Amino acid sequence: MIFITRKHEFCASHRLYNPNFSDEKNEATFGLCNNKNGHGHNYVLEVTLSGEVCEDTGMVFDLKELKKLTTQEIIAKVDHKNLNVDVDYLSGMIPTAENLAIKFWEILEPKITKGRLHEIKLYESERNYVVYRGGICEPTI
Ligand code: NI
Repeated sequence: MIFITRKHEFCASHRLYNPNFSDEKNEATFGLCNNKNGHGHNYVLEVTLSGEVCEDTGMVFDLKELKKLTTQEIIAKVDHKNLNVDVDYLSGMIPTAENLAIKFWEILEPKITKGRLHEIKLYESERNYVVYRGGICEPTI
């Protein structure tokens, strides 16, 4: 088993809030990320596949193809966007890094034709990141 990773970056804005919460509860729950007019992040996304090395190509999965897939299916739809309102597949969910990572997994996983999707790692800042490796962790809103 070997792992390969493609790294991407994108910029996006969001506001974290739950419409079912009072203003006070939203403020207490989400703090600065609850800022009424939103705020931005420079996200870093690492997509990791696992698999065996193909004898004919010496590769697990063509990284050029992974770059193309991730760019088309994810980055192009979130880069320089407001994650609360601009992205169809995020509609109705709180755009935390956790929910983004799960959604990115759901989009990419069926499109990996060699090897398998192993991990989505999403940095929201240099110090804060989430890792999703599939399995039960459904968005609840
Ligand atoms: Ni934020």
